[in-house]
Amino acid sequence: MPSTWTPTSWRAFPVVQQPDWPDEGDLERALKQIASYPPLVFAGEARSLQNALAQVSAGNAFLLQAGDCAESFDDFSANNIREKLRVILQMAVVLTYSLGVPTVKVGRIAGQFAKPRSSATEKIGDLEIPSFRGHIVNDPTPTPAARIPDPDRLVQAYHQSASTLNLVRAFTKGGFADLSRVHAWTQEFVGSSPEGQRYEQLATEIDRALRFMRACGVDTENTSSLHEVDVYTSHEALLLGYEEALTRQDSLTGGWYDCSAHMLWIGERTRQLDGAHIEFLRGVGNPVGCKIGAATDVDYVLELCQALNPARVPGRLTLISRMGADKVEDALRPLLRAVTDAGHPVVWACDPMHANTFTSTSGHKTRHFDDILREISGFVNAHRAEGTWPGGIHVELTGDNVTECLGGADDLQVADLVDRYHTVCDPRLNARQGLDLAFAVAELIRSSGFA
Ligand code: PEP
Ligand code: CO
Repeated sequence: MPSTWTPTSWRAFPVVQQPDWPDEGDLERALKQIASYPPLVFAGEARSLQNALAQVSAGNAFLLQAGDCAESFDDFSANNIREKLRVILQMAVVLTYSLGVPTVKVGRIAGQFAKPRSSATEKIGDLEIPSFRGHIVNDPTPTPAARIPDPDRLVQAYHQSASTLNLVRAFTKGGFADLSRVHAWTQEFVGSSPEGQRYEQLATEIDRALRFMRACGVDTENTSSLHEVDVYTSHEALLLGYEEALTRQDSLTGGWYDCSAHMLWIGERTRQLDGAHIEFLRGVGNPVGCKIGAATDVDYVLELCQALNPARVPGRLTLISRMGADKVEDALRPLLRAVTDAGHPVVWACDPMHANTFTSTSGHKTRHFDDILREISGFVNAHRAEGTWPGGIHVELTGDNVTECLGGADDLQVADLVDRYHTVCDPRLNARQGLDLAFAVAELIRSSGFA
């Protein structure tokens, strides 16, 4: 039997990937301050997301989890947030329209700052300096001083998350996400492209469907689901002190919720069964995710399900495979079978980004659109073979016209990467590539006989 959980019980477990804060006292002061601040999300919202994810686990909905690899303190503006929302809304409309099931929208947004690193230090010439761990920890400038972890950044991340979430709520509930504005979600640089044109066609069909509904007497004016959407927030729960400071007891149920985001996930590097990250997340009431790489075995995944969702609550646990285009089909199938046989109701999502990353000849960390699509294809094939539902995708993207991932409809080449390579961490799909991916994924799933 696991021992009693409290918001601090993780502190007794081995914890990896935490920054080397120079002064414990400064860290404690910052965390105390955050603990005194209001929660960013409410428990009831986390429960709504869990109910929506329960529908995904039952095969009645699709999960689109998308956003930055790492949010940036420098690239923080209303424009940036709006553009990201636009592409997420566009992709969701394409998926919903093509698959005929609701799309559950979860952003890697309003708190996705902290990054795990494969190495604690990096070499700049002859100098060895601490690695960049996200703006919530240190500054990416490659100097020893910039890389010293600064606890004031935890407080700044809280405030940026609060402002971001405020705008997300305004955009999604205040008219911007109204289905009658489906045409207006297209960015200028997408509009004239082939996938932009394809989207325009679909938007016109939606307009016609809305007119048809009104003609039939349906009161579309007063149907709130046509005018508002739910976009939930999520991030990797990496810095456990920060997560603990935002963990609050729900006055309604008495349960503990990590109110830094609606959904939290555990990364590939922090998912040790006897480690602090699993200990922390097992006790919060939010829906949680866990990344699983190609080396994941059946015994591990069953123990993981048992640790994070012993009560087998549908929607509580999302397993996000990130196995690589060449490996996913074979590596995933035994896991699908074992988890299904054990009766664990999980959401299966595909992260086609993190195991398909390489460094280009130009020295940029990049991914090829074709590999991303190939991984999703292998994921869908595995589900078809095992009779399970390919529940969703987890992707890194931005609404901006960046040049970070290769290929896609405009066939970005290595020589193009240098033009607009703006990410502070991993390469993201741009808005055209994101939209293109949504069409391709919908086709893949449909042609596999799922919808
Ligand atoms: C990420 O999602 O940005 C990430 C670091 O993923 P993973 O833990 O799967 O490597
Ligand atoms: Co990433």
